[in-house]
Amino acid sequence: MTIATEEPGSMKPVLITGASSGIGAACCEWLLARGYQVFAGMRSPNEDARLKQQYGERYQLLALDVTDAESIESAMNIVQSRTDGKLSALINNAGVAYSGALETLPMHQVRSLFDVNVLGTFAMTQACIPLLRASRGRVVMMGSISGILAAPGLSAYSSSKFALEGLSDSLRNELKPFGIRVTILEPGKIETPIWSKALQQLTTKEEEMSSDGHSLYQPLDDFYRHYAANEKATPMSELLAVLQKALEAQHPKARYTVGRAARIRSLLMHLPTALRDRLLQRAVPVTSDD
Ligand SMILES: NC(=O)c1ccc[n+]([C@@H]2O[C@H](COP(=O)([O-])OP(=O)(O)OC[C@H]3O[C@@H](n4cnc5c(N)ncnc54)[C@H](OP(=O)(O)O)[C@@H]3O)[C@@H](O)[C@H]2O)c1
Repeated sequence: MTIATEEPGSMKPVLITGASSGIGAACCEWLLARGYQVFAGMRSPNEDARLKQQYGERYQLLALDVTDAESIESAMNIVQSRTDGKLSALINNAGVAYSGALETLPMHQVRSLFDVNVLGTFAMTQACIPLLRASRGRVVMMGSISGILAAPGLSAYSSSKFALEGLSDSLRNELKPFGIRVTILEPGKIETPIWSKALQQLTTKEEEMSSDGHSLYQPLDDFYRHYAANEKATPMSELLAVLQKALEAQHPKARYTVGRAARIRSLLMHLPTALRDRLLQRAVPVTSDD
């Protein structure tokens, strides 16, 4: 990997969405420590006093709901007014994760997931392109291993992350003439609050669904409960190392799969579909007959 020789960060402005928790909060702190000016987008801005004290004006909170056009417009006005109209990078991180058999997923959950994960990413990218063009900046998408390999019970989440793969592939070539690089990160499991939120969503879904649906797919829900609580996670440091490549390598890759488990899972895509399906069926029980 070749890293650009200039001072890392050097006050370059970066906007990250979903900076209130998990990966977004960790990236925000890493970016500040590395010398970037960070616009930390949050639905409910909650200033971290420690970061403010340590980094002062380089840490800028931004009220930002990626599903709300007015919120995006006011956030972009603030970014415009506090930069010289240039943005070095947009990190599209905001996201939600819901699991459950499609038959049992309330449509309002599916819609809100697509609103955040897909349409929110489209809207933020659209709003930032002029500022990114002005500095030949970078777009980083927070994809997922579920955007490469679609397991049963993840139809909504996986298809939203597959959509980000398509978006990244298309944009990479669309924005190349302007010198804007587009990279998608594909992490496996990382320990963040997304997992407790996913458990909460499973409970809400079960309360809303019929008892038929509940008994038919209970093993699938139990599998994801167990996965959320017990599956070994990739350390956040691996994701941050890859973020550095996406932001600072002279020639960043189109995609980076993050973590050993995710890299092993991505290999399954090279198998014939019938064999891959058999392995997935064996690994993920759907009904009690499995
Ligand atoms: N953790 C993993 O294992 C993993 C693996 C692969 C990919 N990812 C992806 O990584 C990204 C971050 O996830 P995480 O694990 O850090 O989860 P997290 O801790 O739950 O953080 C998600 C962030 O997205 C924000 N968000 C949700 N809806 C939003 C909206 N409408 N507008 C703006 N922000 C919104 C949340 O804000 P609130 O605090 O206001 O809800 C929160 O800041 C997601 O895109 C996720 O799909 C995570």
